[in-house]
Amino acid sequence: MGGLARRAAYIRAFQLRSHDEAPALFVDAGNLFSDDRYAAGELPAEITVKNRWVLKGYGDFNHDAANLSYLDLPYLASLLKKDGYDKRVAEFPFIKKLISANIKPMDPSVQAPPPYVIVETTLKRGQPGKKYKIGIIGLTQGKPVSPTVDEYDVAGFHIDDPFIAAKRILPDLKKQVDFVLALAYMPQDKAQLLATQNSEIDAVIGARQISNTGEVQHFNRATLTYAYSQTKYLGELRIYLSNDAKIENQTNRYVALDDSVPDDPAAAEVVASAHTEFTNEQSKTAQQVQASATPMTLLSTASPYAGVDECAKCHQQEYDIWKNTGHAHAMATLEKRNQQLDQGCVKCHVVGFEQGGFQAVYSTPQFANVQCESCHGPGKAHVDNPGKGYGFMSVPVGCIQCHTQNNSPDFNFALYYPKIRHTKG
Ligand code: HEC
Ligand code: HEC
Ligand code: HEC
Ligand code: HEC
Repeated sequence: MGGLARRAAYIRAFQLRSHDEAPALFVDAGNLFSDDRYAAGELPAEITVKNRWVLKGYGDFNHDAANLSYLDLPYLASLLKKDGYDKRVAEFPFIKKLISANIKPMDPSVQAPPPYVIVETTLKRGQPGKKYKIGIIGLTQGKPVSPTVDEYDVAGFHIDDPFIAAKRILPDLKKQVDFVLALAYMPQDKAQLLATQNSEIDAVIGARQISNTGEVQHFNRATLTYAYSQTKYLGELRIYLSNDAKIENQTNRYVALDDSVPDDPAAAEVVASAHTEFTNEQSKTAQQVQASATPMTLLSTASPYAGVDECAKCHQQEYDIWKNTGHAHAMATLEKRNQQLDQGCVKCHVVGFEQGGFQAVYSTPQFANVQCESCHGPGKAHVDNPGKGYGFMSVPVGCIQCHTQNNSPDFNFALYYPKIRHTKG
């Protein structure tokens, strides 16, 4: 939830600038909760803490809807249990704005999420005072287990075909509203198909996609834009209406949430409290791990990674050079920003994220930072059986996996490489 404070500040500034004349909606296209992919069964306590704060933060800071994706399901069941549901909604009203038209609980004691929400705004220009209704529908693909196969039963929920669900629900939704926005957690080609197949849709906001900061694309009469995959950017889709309240034009842009956008003080406080509680919970878990005779093995013990301390045993020279590069303190960089928990950030600042390497600071501290194996690949087998042949790294291709246009705009191999080079001669 790193970007929440800046996002809230930007939203406020936008409303002031437009003299509250442009109604604004805030939506999330999917994957707002952490699912902690390597945990078997129950979510670890601190992940639950983090998710609860996300729920509170979204609710307190004016979000109108969030689409559910397969990644959100491990946490969702606890929210939608019928037992205690009303009490939970009273505490976290945002639960009712978690939408999905194609996710259904398999357990009858769990409530289904609403397929859509309808937000009513009042126009200030053109036809001042006219009510304008926006229907927001949520759709997700199944959990991809290979490039060609999806899994449809996830964490006690069944994920129906999103295209069939769209066809079933959209005609009815369209009758109730002036504008239909579909939030789609699916790859680009599928999101395009959704827009072409369903003439009821006016705009699709897609996620689950390599970050794409392109222009609005037009399909059928709908437009398609993408949510940026990191909280560094806020995607802004503007919809212009003609004087008779018909859709005239749609444009989009990505606002960099950098230092020029100050934190909203109230939201910053929420983020800080969240961080404190999360850290406490993490250290509690860490103590439990140390205290218990059979440690909780969050990480599969069969990690293909060894960690830099192992490499140092035989490659002292390379280690000494590495130690003095920025790569060796990439995690501290995130900690300074209080973004060490943001999975969207962590992946490039550690070893083997989601590949059996780094998972969380307390359970896998040996895989924090950009290490040898971030470049040379998993090295456990090499450690067990050292010798030539392991770890060839092709450059600059291997570098630009992390040194992307957005995260390293100044990357120039000829200038960067000498700073980290550790080959002999
Ligand atoms: C037990 C000692 C040992 C450990 C531990 C070890 N290596 Fe090696 N490594 C070797 C030996 C021996 C070679 C072969 C060197 C040679 O013949 O020039 C080698 C070669 C390499 C090479 C060059 C491969 C080649 O074909 O020239 C890389 C890269 C490398 N190691 C990286 C690592 C990394 C990364 C780690 C930690 C995951 C690691 N090593 C851990 C002993 C070790
Ligand atoms: C796993 C992701 C990853 C890969 C692969 C990667 N980098 Fe980096 N690099 C980073 C991150 C993250 C930082 C920022 C570290 C910090 O300052 O916190 C960084 C910083 C740097 C810096 C500036 C810091 C310094 O040490 O002066 C240089 C130079 C650099 N990388 C060069 C390279 C080159 C050259 C390659 C390819 C051979 C490469 N990197 C591959 C993630 C990566
Ligand atoms: C695609 C990989 C990638 C992701 C994702 C990523 N970073 Fe980085 N980050 C890098 C690289 C590479 C550098 C080094 C940039 C350079 O020196 O050119 C870097 C550098 C940084 C720096 C130090 C340099 C600076 O610009 O001040 C900070 C701070 C930082 N990242 C924070 C974050 C945060 C916060 C997130 C999540 C919102 C994030 N990063 C996500 C790859 C990534
Ligand atoms: C940012 C990417 C990056 C990181 C991090 C990195 N290396 Fe390398 N390493 C390279 C590249 C690129 C080469 C040269 C091409 C090759 O041999 O694959 C290289 C070469 C090597 C070699 C061969 C040396 C020689 O003289 O030919 C060894 C051994 C090695 N690295 C070990 C390590 C160890 C140990 C670490 C961690 C302490 C490490 N590397 C961290 C990118 C990296």
